[in-house]
Amino acid sequence: MDRFPSEFEALLNRKGRRVLADAPQLEDLIAKRRTPIVFFDDIIDRGVVDDCIRLLDDALYPCLRRMHTPIPRESLTGMTANYSEALAKTVRVRTATFNSRASQALAAARESGLYDMMTSASFRRFAQAVTGSHLREDFWGRQVICYESGDYSGPHNDHHPERAEARNGFIDFHVMFSNAAVANQLLVYEERGFLSSARDVSCRSAIAIYRLPFWHYTTPLVARAGRESEARRWLLLGSFDYDPPLDTLAY
Ligand SMILES: [Fe+2]
Repeated sequence: MDRFPSEFEALLNRKGRRVLADAPQLEDLIAKRRTPIVFFDDIIDRGVVDDCIRLLDDALYPCLRRMHTPIPRESLTGMTANYSEALAKTVRVRTATFNSRASQALAAARESGLYDMMTSASFRRFAQAVTGSHLREDFWGRQVICYESGDYSGPHNDHHPERAEARNGFIDFHVMFSNAAVANQLLVYEERGFLSSARDVSCRSAIAIYRLPFWHYTTPLVARAGRESEARRWLLLGSFDYDPPLDTLAY
C-alpha cells in the first residue's frame, strides 16, 4: 500500500465489514443508562495496520505540531481555600488539523490519500452505523493525533454548550493504530458518575465511537522497556454533528 485507499471501508477485514451491517447502537446504551461508547478491536488486518502506520510516520509525523497544555502553576499556588482545587483540560500530544488550507499537514494528508479516506462516504457510514439519529453528511471535523511515550489527555468532557449544533451531543469516531513499541494506554471514562471504566486502547488497531459529552481521559502512554523513543499511537479522529441537531442532552 503506497497511499491510503480512497474509501475507509477498504481498510476493514471481514469482521469489520460485518460490524457495519449489524452494529451495537449508542441509543441502546443510553436507554440502559450506560455510557454511550462502543469499541471494535481487530477489524483491520495486521499487514494493513503496518502499512497505515508507515504512511502516517512518513507523511504526517513531520507535519505534526505539539499540543502541550501543562498544569497551570496557579491552579495550585493561587488556591486560597483547602479542597478548592479545579483543573482545566491538560494535554500533551502531537496533532494536525486539516482546517487551514495553507497547512503543510493538509498537503501531506492529500498527498498520502489520508484526507480523501477521512472524507469518504464509508468513513461517515461507519460512524452512522452505531447511531440511529442522522449525522451530517456535507462536513465533519478531521484531525490526526499522535501519542508518544508519556503523552496523555487529562480529564475533560468535550461539552460545547456554545455550539447549537453540538450542545446536545455529537459523535467522535476514533480509528487507532499502535506500533509494536507501545505497551499500554488506557481510556478512562465515566460510568454513572464515576471515572470507573477503563479500556486498553493500545492494541495494534482499534476503533472507538463515542456520543459526547461525558468525562474521560487517557492515561500516559507506556512504551515497552527500551523502546520509549519509538512508541507511537496514532489516532484518526472524525467529529460528526447530528443533522438535525439533537433536541435534548442525554447525560
Ligand atoms: Fe475527548
